[in-house]
Amino acid sequence: MSSDNTSQCYLIKMPKETDMMDKLISLAKRRGFIFPGSEIYGGLANSWDYGPLGVELKNNIKKLWWKMFVQQRDDMVGIDAALMMNPKVWEASGHLKNFSDPMIECKKCHTRYRADNAPDVCGVCKGKEFTESKQFNLMFKTFMGPVEDANNAVYLRPETAQAMFVDFKQILETSRKKIPFGVAQIGKAFRNEITPGNFIFRLREFEQMEIEYFINPKNWEDYFEHWQDQQKLWCIRIGLDQNRLKFVEIPDQDRAFYSKRSVDTEFVYPFGQKELYGLAYRTDFDLSAHEKMSGQKLRYKDPESGEEYIPHVIEPTWGVDRTVLAVLLSAYSESQARSGKEDAVHETEVTLKLPKELAPIKIAVLPLSKKEELTKSAEVLANNLRKNWMIQYDETGSIGKRYRRQDEIGTPYCVTVDFDSLKDNSVTVRDRDSMQQERIEIKELSKYFKEKFEN
Ligand code: GAP
Repeated sequence: MSSDNTSQCYLIKMPKETDMMDKLISLAKRRGFIFPGSEIYGGLANSWDYGPLGVELKNNIKKLWWKMFVQQRDDMVGIDAALMMNPKVWEASGHLKNFSDPMIECKKCHTRYRADNAPDVCGVCKGKEFTESKQFNLMFKTFMGPVEDANNAVYLRPETAQAMFVDFKQILETSRKKIPFGVAQIGKAFRNEITPGNFIFRLREFEQMEIEYFINPKNWEDYFEHWQDQQKLWCIRIGLDQNRLKFVEIPDQDRAFYSKRSVDTEFVYPFGQKELYGLAYRTDFDLSAHEKMSGQKLRYKDPESGEEYIPHVIEPTWGVDRTVLAVLLSAYSESQARSGKEDAVHETEVTLKLPKELAPIKIAVLPLSKKEELTKSAEVLANNLRKNWMIQYDETGSIGKRYRRQDEIGTPYCVTVDFDSLKDNSVTVRDRDSMQQERIEIKELSKYFKEKFEN
C-alpha cells in the first residue's frame, strides 16, 4: 500500500493567538462546520449556521453530556420544555425586572454599546459623545396569536432553567425521585445581546445544557463542590486545553441577581479570558418566587424525617456553542511538512485533534485508486461500517491529500482499500494522531473499531 511519502518530518507550529480566530473561522466555513447565517441575503448580524460537520460535532457534545449527567446517574432526570412560557414565569423569576445590561448610545450615529465594555470613541463614526447609561432588558419579546397587543406579549426564554422550576411538582410526582436529585435540559435560549460577537462566543440565539440540582440546604457546600468537580471532569473529557481553563470565584457585586455563590469556568480565548460555563447556588430563590406567584405549593416532604421545605438549588450550566468554540480551539493544531530536500517547506497542514467521541466523522474509507474493483469493495465496506459510525467515503485526489482532508476535520481513522485487499481481505487503518498504520482483516474491522471507540 502506498502512503504519503512526500512528508518526512513535521514541525508543529501553532498560529499566533491573534491569527487563531481568523484561521478557525475560515476552517469552519471552508469545511462546513459553521458558516454565516442567511449569507445569500447578505447575512443577519452575528447569526451562524451549523453545517454538515458542525451539527455532528454539536450533537456529539450534547449526546456525551446527556450520557454523562443523565443516563449514567440515578439521581438525574431530563425534560424538554416549550421555548415560550407564561409571561408570569419571567415576572416571578425576576427576569422582567433584572435581566438587563447597562447600555449607552453614540450621540452622533446612535450605535449602542454595553456601558460596562464601552469604547472611548465610537467604533462606527469616531464620535466621542455618548448618552447616559440606561438599563436594557435582554429578553426577546413577541406576540402569541394574531393580535399584537400587550395582553398577548410573550418572551423567548433567556435561559432553559425556569422550566425545571415551573415543572418541579410534576417532575417530582412522576419520577418519584428523592432529594437530592437533578433535572437536566438541553435547548435554545435567546438574549437580545447589545454587542454580540467573537464568532459563536456571544450570540443572540444559542443553546444551553443546564442542570437544576435540588437539595436540602443543610449541606449545600458539598453539592456545590461536587458540581465543581463534575464541570472540571467534563472539561477533561472533551479535551479542553487545561492551560486555558481558569476557575473564577465571582464577587458579590458581579453575581447574577439570584445567586448566593458563583464560580465560573473561564477559558482563555484568543480574544481574552471569558466565561465558558457557570455554577451558581440559586438557593430557594426560584421555587419560592414561583410558589408565591402561582399560589401552588412547590415543596418537598422528606419521607424519613417528615420535614417539609422548599428545596434549594445548585445550578451548573454549560453553553453548547461556547463548548464547540473551546473544543475547536483546543483541538486545532498546525504542522509544516518538510520534504527530504533541505528546507523545502510545504504548505501548512491542519489537524483537529478532537476526542474520538466528538469527531464528526469517525472513519474515512478511501480506495487507493478509482479502479472499479477497488471502489466497489470500498463502497461495500463503507456501507457496512455506516451501520455503527458516521463514515465519509472519498476517492478523489492522492491518498496523501485525502489523509490531510480527514486530519483537517478531525477524523480519527482512515481505512484504505488497496489492490492487496482483494487478495488478502485486509485493509490498512491509519490513526490520525500517531499516524501509525495497521493491517486489519475486513471481517475483524467492526470489532476492531468497537474496541477503539469504547476506549
Ligand atoms: N441559567 C443560568 C444562566 O443562564 P448564564 O451564565 O447567563 O447562566 C449560562 O448562561 C451559559 O450560557 C454561559 O456560561 C454560556 O456558556 C452560555 N451563554 C450565555 N449567554 C450566551 C450568549 N449570548 N451566547 C452564547 N452563549 C451564551
